[in-house]
Amino acid sequence: MSKKLYLETVGCQMNVLDSEMVVASLRKHGYSLTQDPQQADALLFNTCSVRERAEEKTYSSLGKLKRLKQQHPEKVIGVMGCMAQKDQKLIFERAPYVDLIVGPGQLQQIPELIENVISGNGRQVAVSLGRRDGSVENIKRSHETFDPLRDSEMRPTPFQAYLRIQIGCDKFCTYCIVPMTRGPEQGRPPEQIVAEARILADQGCKEITLLGQTVNSYRFVAEGKTTRLADLLEQLQQVDGVERIKFVTNYPKDMTRELLEAVRDLSKVSPYLHVPLQSGSDRILERMKRGYTVGDYRDMMGRIREIVPNAAISSDFIVGFCGETDEDFQRTVELTKECRFKNSFIFKYSERPGTRGAEMYADDVPLDVKQDRNNELLAVQSAISEEENLQFLGQRVQVLIEGPSKLTLRKGQQDEPLQQLTGRTHCDRIVVFDGNVRQIGQTLPVAIYDATAHTLFGAVVTEEVGPTVYSLQLK
Ligand code: 5AD
Ligand code: SF4
Repeated sequence: MSKKLYLETVGCQMNVLDSEMVVASLRKHGYSLTQDPQQADALLFNTCSVRERAEEKTYSSLGKLKRLKQQHPEKVIGVMGCMAQKDQKLIFERAPYVDLIVGPGQLQQIPELIENVISGNGRQVAVSLGRRDGSVENIKRSHETFDPLRDSEMRPTPFQAYLRIQIGCDKFCTYCIVPMTRGPEQGRPPEQIVAEARILADQGCKEITLLGQTVNSYRFVAEGKTTRLADLLEQLQQVDGVERIKFVTNYPKDMTRELLEAVRDLSKVSPYLHVPLQSGSDRILERMKRGYTVGDYRDMMGRIREIVPNAAISSDFIVGFCGETDEDFQRTVELTKECRFKNSFIFKYSERPGTRGAEMYADDVPLDVKQDRNNELLAVQSAISEEENLQFLGQRVQVLIEGPSKLTLRKGQQDEPLQQLTGRTHCDRIVVFDGNVRQIGQTLPVAIYDATAHTLFGAVVTEEVGPTVYSLQLK
C-alpha cells in the first residue's frame, strides 16, 4: 500500500521548487500526496526565515499536530528549508514532537532520514555547514541541491516551471538571513540548466522562470570560459517548446547593458524585470549594505528604459528599517513615484537574529509607524499600478492561459467548460477573461477593456479569417 505524504510550503519560489523535488524523490519511494494530515504517514513543513511572521506561522501549524503525534507516534513529522538550517536543533525545543530537521542543501537525504526515524534510530538532523565552518569549497558543496528530479504534477500549472540556475547569496545585505540559510553563491553549470530546460519542455512546459537570489549575478566559469546570464538566455532561446523565459530576482548593480540587450533581442525572454530597490534613501541603503546608491539605481532605470522601453519593472521594499526617519521614508515614496513600478512587494522590517543588521542596529521604528509607512507606500504603488494598467485599455496582449480565475471561482464551478480564466502577459501582468477550459495552456490574443491595479480584464480575440480558397488539382 502506498504511503501518504502531507506537505506544507511557505516562502519564496525556491521553496516551491524544493518542495517539487522532495515530492518527486518521495514518490520514487512509494509515497503519494494527501491534503489531510490525519491520513499522512509523513508530514513535512517547508519553511521560510526571511521574516519572523513566516516562522511563527510554521510553529503554529506544527502546534496543531501535537495531539495527532500523541495519538499516532508512528507518524513522522519533519521541518525542512531555511528555518531548519537557521535554528537546527532549537526547533526540537519549541516543537518536541518533530522527528526530522533538514536544511535546504540536504533535501536529497529526506527519504533515507524518514526511513531512519521509522526504523527507530531516533531524531534525525541534516544541515549544511555554516558560513564560517570550513573551506569555501566544502561549505559550497554542503549547500548543493539536487535539481534534476522534477515532478510536473507538483506544479501549480503544467505549462509553467521554475528552474534554479543559482544557489545561495554572497551579498550579505544587513537585514537578510538568506546568505546564512542558503549558503555561498554558486552558479549551476549551463549544460545542466539547458538539459533541465529540455526535460521541462518535453513535459509540456511553455514558460520557464529561472531562479536565483541575485539571478543576474549568475556566473559559471569552466576551462577559462565564463558564462553569464545573457549567454545562458541565448542558449535557452534555442530550446524548442519553451515560449517564455523569465528570471527572478535581480540585483540592481548587476543589471548590465549586455543583459538588457539580450532581453531586448531574444524573443522568448519576457520584458519583465524584478529589481528590488528596498529603500529610496542613500542613508538607509548604506545601512542595509545594498551596494548601490539612489543615483546608481536611477542610472540602471535609465538603461532599462533606453534598451528595453517596453519592460515592466517591479520592486521590493522594506519599510521601517533600523533608523529610518520620516524623511528617509518620504524619499522612498518619491522614488517610487519616479520609477513607476508595475508592482511592488512591501514588507515591514523584521529583525533576524544572525544577521549583521540585528548585531549592529536597534530595531527602533515602532510597529505602528512601520504599518503606517507600509500602508502609505502601498497606496502610492497601487495608484501607479492602476494608471499603468489603464494604458492597456483597447490594446491586444498575448496571454499564456493558466487556469480558472480565483477571482470568480465558485464551488462546483470547476467542471463547467465556460468560465473566467486567468493568465499572464509576456510582461507578467495578470489578465482575466471569459474562456473555455480547453484553452488552458494555450497562448492567445486578448483585447483589454478594463483594468484595476492588479488585473487586466479582456476578451479573447477570435481572429477574422479570410475565406479559404480550395483549388482542385487538375490532372
Ligand atoms: N525584514 C523584512 N523584509 C525582508 N526581506 C528580506 N529580509 C527581510 C527582513 N529581515 C524582503 C526584501 C526581499 C524580500 C524577498 O523580502 O524586500 O527583497
Ligand atoms: Fe538577501 Fe541581499 Fe542576498 Fe537578496 S541580495 S538574498 S536581500 S542578502
